Amino acid sequence: MFMMKLLVLLLFSVFITGCRGNSSYSLTPKLLLVSFDGFRADYLQKYEFPHLQNFIKEGVLVENVKNVFITKTFPNHYSIVTGLYEESHGIVANSMYDAVTKKHFSDSNDKDPFWWNEAVPIWVTNQLQENRTSAAAMWPGTDVPIHNTTPSYFMNYNSSVSFAERLNNITLWLSNSNPPVTFATLYWEEPDASGHKYGPEDKENMRTVLKEIDKHIGDLVHKLKMLGLWENLNVIITSDHGMTQCSKDRLINLDRCIDHSDYTLIDLTPVAAILPKRNRTEVYNKLKICSPQMTVYLKEDIPARFYYQHNDRIQPIILVAEEGWTIVLNKSLSKCDHGYDNSLPSMHPFLAAHGPAFHKGYKHSTINSVDIYPMMCHILGLKPRPNNGTFGNTKCLLVDQWCINLLEAIGIVISALLVLTTLTCLIIIMKNRLSVPHPFSRLQLQDDDDDPLIG
Ligand SMILES: *[C@@H]1O[C@H](CO)[C@@H](O)[C@H](O)[C@H]1NC(C)=O
Ligand SMILES: *[C@@H]1O[C@H](CO)[C@@H](O)[C@H](O)[C@H]1NC(C)=O
Ligand SMILES: [Zn+2]
Repeated sequence: MFMMKLLVLLLFSVFITGCRGNSSYSLTPKLLLVSFDGFRADYLQKYEFPHLQNFIKEGVLVENVKNVFITKTFPNHYSIVTGLYEESHGIVANSMYDAVTKKHFSDSNDKDPFWWNEAVPIWVTNQLQENRTSAAAMWPGTDVPIHNTTPSYFMNYNSSVSFAERLNNITLWLSNSNPPVTFATLYWEEPDASGHKYGPEDKENMRTVLKEIDKHIGDLVHKLKMLGLWENLNVIITSDHGMTQCSKDRLINLDRCIDHSDYTLIDLTPVAAILPKRNRTEVYNKLKICSPQMTVYLKEDIPARFYYQHNDRIQPIILVAEEGWTIVLNKSLSKCDHGYDNSLPSMHPFLAAHGPAFHKGYKHSTINSVDIYPMMCHILGLKPRPNNGTFGNTKCLLVDQWCINLLEAIGIVISALLVLTTLTCLIIIMKNRLSVPHPFSRLQLQDDDDDPLIG
């Protein structure tokens, strides 16, 4: 096995060296990035997905993708397409407030480029390349002129547009445009909406919606095949985050601890963003003793592992609820949610991919959602902008990368040593054979040896 790998490595490097200089790719690589919102990683084990499993059988699966904190939709979708943590791309919540400009951001008021311009998403970088365009079917931010650029083809966000229409239009754009669409995105609101409504443990209702999603994936593959796009297109199917089971009696009521007039509530649950009106310490002290199921952080004390501190849009105090708990005001309703600590497995989505750039039938345990961006740039041949992802984490998924783990590396070193030792031994044996006394050769040798001495 190790010997095989070694041999393959040798042949591969010979091949690569031999090919350099030739234009080995005649086709411009193309990529379609699909997100099914709130597709928790373990749905794949707990429910049946015949179409998605077929897709994976001929492609790759990453069972667990570690998303970024806070585990919300807009921030996580922006991390996938920028490779940046939230503090670095600036979309730090679904609800934000900027104290300097007094601007507000929410999922229904998201079109001001001000919020998005702290980063450059991959569809903008792709648009700036000669002879390439991007297309989008409702991925968050794609209907906003970020750095004065939208995808050449996009839809204004409208949740009532059906999956079929989004799919029809995005595949049409992928097949019929000039210059060609080389990067496209497709976004769908489920299973997030049903997860919020029923909770991820409601088997019956979740089975219904997940079956529908699998059908959408079947339709997607079918459509790409019909249009002759399937063979050359790289398709990534992933999601922004997971979902946590809720319970009506796991509520943290802020109104029991602090008066409304003391603070402005920028975002509520399960990570609340608090802007104190007067005395920050006083507000902090009241909240700190509010509930044992809620951690209260002053901005400067937010743990480094969240990468959630260095941005003006992160408020002076944040409250983080324990998994499954909901922060409420007296009047607010509770429903199941996501947003929690991103180290919780229930928050993680998955990733599946298929196409000429990817291996066939390969399973990988985990990557970070910020690693997806450098991988996509590699596939498209784009120079990645500075980001927080690690390309090396995705190398095993890609056919043009050499990927070995530590054990294999040790194996290869040992086999290389064995090969060298064997060769050395062979050479020594051969030499000994040659110098074995032989009547004629001896005579000749003696002749040769003696001549100079005599001369
Ligand atoms: C999809 O394409 C059709 C036909 O070109 C167009 O009429 C429709 O408005 C498009 N849908 C969206 C949501 O852009
Ligand atoms: C993330 O990447 C950005 C851009 O390179 C950089 O400014 C920032 O410091 C990085 N964050 C971390 C935690 O390394
Ligand atoms: Zn959601």
